[in-house]
Amino acid sequence: MTKLLVCGGAGFIGSAFVRVRLRDHGDEVTVLDKLTYAGRRENLADLDIDFVHAGIEDPDAVASAIEGVDAVVNFAAETHVDRSITEPDAFVTTHAVGTWVLLEAARRAGVRYLQVSTDEVYGSIEEGSFTESSPLAPSSPYSATKAGADLLVASYFHTYGLPTVICRGSNNYGPRQYPEKLIPLMILNALHGDPLPVYGDGMQVRNWLYVDDFARGIGHVLAHGTPGEAYNVGGPDECPNLDVVRRIIELTGADDSLLTYVRDRPGHDRRYSLGSEKVRALGWEAQVRFAEGLEETVAWYQDNREWWEPIRSGGYREYYARQYGASIKD
Ligand code: NAD
Ligand code: DAU
Repeated sequence: MTKLLVCGGAGFIGSAFVRVRLRDHGDEVTVLDKLTYAGRRENLADLDIDFVHAGIEDPDAVASAIEGVDAVVNFAAETHVDRSITEPDAFVTTHAVGTWVLLEAARRAGVRYLQVSTDEVYGSIEEGSFTESSPLAPSSPYSATKAGADLLVASYFHTYGLPTVICRGSNNYGPRQYPEKLIPLMILNALHGDPLPVYGDGMQVRNWLYVDDFARGIGHVLAHGTPGEAYNVGGPDECPNLDVVRRIIELTGADDSLLTYVRDRPGHDRRYSLGSEKVRALGWEAQVRFAEGLEETVAWYQDNREWWEPIRSGGYREYYARQYGASIKD
């Protein structure tokens, strides 16, 4: 049993990680989360945890929450690339200042630190796959600030000897993902008969990773990773966006005519692909193939309307109108 401080644990991947840790490891968990638009206390409702409502950039809240824990796992982030293009401010504060405050607290408390990062720090790759020694070449304010956080984490290892590890995941999908991201957005729009907005030509490729596989991969790195190292955790399958959307149309029984090409994302990365040999050597393997995981994910959204109906009728509508209003008339 380990005592963990999980920052950003009320979000999509953080809450899946907490569930896996309680179920499979019997850990004692404190979640510290700011509960932004993407964080939901309901994601942890059925779980026996301590909860602190605070931002990672708040030094007093962090110093008190870190007391007595064995390790900090940091999921806390602004995570949507499109929002980073229109409103980058919170990305800089949370990823730069927030990560620094957490690292300082971990250094003072002398606890292990795991940073949850992303394949987007490497930028786009036309062929082959990124390894952990590929150069960082981020494209968006989201990925640039995540890359900055990774460098800050590495500096705390090199300068102060803080035992840090970094986990870089590829595109996650599964239950409880906020419906601004491709898969849940398309599922909910398909269920409502709304247009399915495909950016550009829809031939961008993503490397899909089921959320519980990422949660287990993070656990492997926490237990067996070498301090100072980064580990890629990539999904087993790559797929162009257009194929993802067509499959969601089939699974939901929606009409083909809903597929709508819209203006491309500025600076859109064409393809992500992660080589995960290093984490495999620690004993991790993805268990869920994309075809199976996508079917389960569609079924989860069909069966859990009470989870997404309040989101879809709240502030999300304003975001949706801002993001898609000019290119879609429904
Ligand atoms: P999410 O948007 O669902 O959740 C983010 C969580 O962080 C929310 O609970 C939010 O309230 C919290 N948060 C935001 N700012 C905070 C702050 N300043 N202080 C405390 N809490 C704050 O995100 P997610 O998809 O679960 O991503 C979690 C982590 O995994 C992020 O670091 C992200 O960069 C990384 N990641 C995501 C993916 C993906 O495909 N979603 C892939 C690889 C890596
Ligand atoms: O690769 C890991 C990253 O995956 C994480 O670090 C990010 O937090 C996460 O948001 C995700 O980033 P992407 O930008 O790849 O995910 P998103 O779901 O926003 O988009 C996936 C692809 O689908 C991308 O090529 C853009 C496209 N897309 C997205 C939306 C929301 C569309 O074509 N239409 C859309 O409406």
